[in-house]
Parts: sequence; C-alpha cells; structure tokens
Amino acid sequence: MKTYELRLDALHTLVEKILKEFKNGVVILKGDLACGKTTLVKEMVKQLGCSDDVTSPTFSLQQCYSDKIFHYDIYNHGLDHFISLGMLEELDKEGLHFVEWGNEELENILSSAAIDTLTIEIEKTSDNTRTYKVRHAHP
Ligand SMILES: Nc1ncnc2c1ncn2[C@@H]1O[C@H](COP(=O)(O)OP(=O)(O)OP(=O)(O)O)[C@@H](O)[C@H]1O
Ligand SMILES: [Mg+2]
Repeated sequence: MKTYELRLDALHTLVEKILKEFKNGVVILKGDLACGKTTLVKEMVKQLGCSDDVTSPTFSLQQCYSDKIFHYDIYNHGLDHFISLGMLEELDKEGLHFVEWGNEELENILSSAAIDTLTIEIEKTSDNTRTYKVRHAHP
C-alpha cells in the first residue's frame, strides 16, 4: 500500500501515476462524505482524455464517459441492490470502472471473480489536503 498526502492542485500527479500502471479494472473509492471521491474520478476522466462533466451518479446506477470509462456510486442503493441489478457483470467489462462507496464485501467479490481491483481510501487530513491510501489487489 502507498500513501500520499496531497492538496487539490497536486492531485494530477497521483492520477498520472495511477493511470500509468492501472489501465483496466475496478477502482474502489472509499472515504467519508465530501472527502474527495468524485474529485478524483473527475481528474482521472480528464486525464483519460474525456471532457464529460463528472458528477456522482446518485440517481443512475452507472454513468458512462466513453465506452471504456464508467462511474458508479453505491451509497444510495447499497451493494445488494447494485449486485441484484447485474452490475457485477458490468464491472467485468473492459475499461476502467470507478466505484464510489465500494466496500470490503465488494473487494472480496471482485477478488473471487479475478477482477483487477485498485482500492483508494481517502481521508480529509486538513481543510486543504487529503490523504490517499492506494492498494492494488492482484487477482
Ligand atoms: N486533495 C484535495 N485537497 C483539498 N480539497 C479537496 C481535495 N480533493 C477534493 N477536495 C474538495 O473536497 C470537496 C468534496 O469533494 P467531492 O465532492 O469530490 O467528495 P465526495 O467524496 O465525492 O463526496 P460524496 O461522499 O458526497 O460523494 C470538494 O470541495 C473538493 O474540492
Ligand atoms: Mg461523490
């Protein structure tokens, strides 16, 4: 696991690093309300060359920014609902899948399905910084 403490204006350096190594699979974003999950996805999508507006997919289950970039938010409906709607199959599709509010249960399921998963835990360490703990689970 690697840890980074970053201000918003340095977030792009972490995203560059991550996208160099992780090009396909699921990125689970953990952390309290307003810790910066969507902000991280926004920077990822931008660096992937997509200019779409990134917002938490609160009402839809899945947001697609291209045929290879997907965004989900489990907060409102819960993991069971997400799974019962067949979303695990979606996560197995080629591309990068960003899941806000993913949890350990989802990590375990993805691991059993041999789906490459990167977990990023974000914590507000001050008004101007966030700590990012990045963990890559090799399938
Ligand atoms: N590295 C950072 N340093 C300082 N502020 C940041 C950083 N990352 C994000 N923020 C700020 O944190 C606030 C909340 O960000 P964001 O909406 O991305 O959180 P979230 O985790 O997606 O929230 P939610 O749980 O509601 O989905 C925003 O004002 C954003 O600018
Ligand atoms: Mg969000």
